[in-house]
Amino acid sequence: MSDPAVASASSPLLEAIRGRRVERWFSDERLAEADVMAIAEAAARAPSGSGFRPNIFVAVTERDQIRNLFAMSPGMFSHPAAMLAICIDWTVLPYLRPDDPSTTHPTWFDIGAAFENALLVADEAGIGACPVTSFHRAGAGAILGLPETTVPYVLVTLGHSAQPQEYRMPKRLRRGRIHRDRYQEASDG
Ligand SMILES: Cc1cc2nc3c(=O)[nH]c(=O)nc-3n(C[C@H](O)[C@H](O)[C@H](O)COP(=O)(O)O)c2cc1C
Repeated sequence: MSDPAVASASSPLLEAIRGRRVERWFSDERLAEADVMAIAEAAARAPSGSGFRPNIFVAVTERDQIRNLFAMSPGMFSHPAAMLAICIDWTVLPYLRPDDPSTTHPTWFDIGAAFENALLVADEAGIGACPVTSFHRAGAGAILGLPETTVPYVLVTLGHSAQPQEYRMPKRLRRGRIHRDRYQEASDG
């Protein structure tokens, strides 16, 4: 039986999705301003629940800002050349209580859609990227100069890889995650 996790359709975008991996080790090389802003635009054009678009994006390339944000981020392993902070402006969603999981779940999907767009456009430009959620939100918000009602939830790190490309292992997709028409328990056969 063919594996539904490996589609036969030919699609350059699907090929890019198959090949994308996070990068955590960055070289000192600067990034072109146009690339950073293209990544930010891709993130800002992601779909948004009810079209509210509550996300604010801050593209960071100043070395001091990068150093200060890095110091707030245990989930970051090396200094990136740039970062894209993805935030929620909670004033756009006045009927929600910030961080209340029973009402705010669509906003988390907005953030995920935004950073996946960013990762893919970075990958296409040969730029390594990683979404980082392990950082001190209030500290990062202060460094970025955000108003109190705008909270950063993801820092997408960006930069050229410091590793030889052979370290970039292809991603395997575990079988049994994609089903057709209805869920089927895995059989041994
Ligand atoms: C919501 C989310 C949060 C993440 N937070 C971090 C993080 O704080 N630090 C980090 O190094 N990687 C982080 N990652 C990257 C994941 O570890 C990575 O995507 C995963 O290991 C799969 O690797 P791949 O993207 O190369 O397929 C995060 C990914 C997601 C989707």
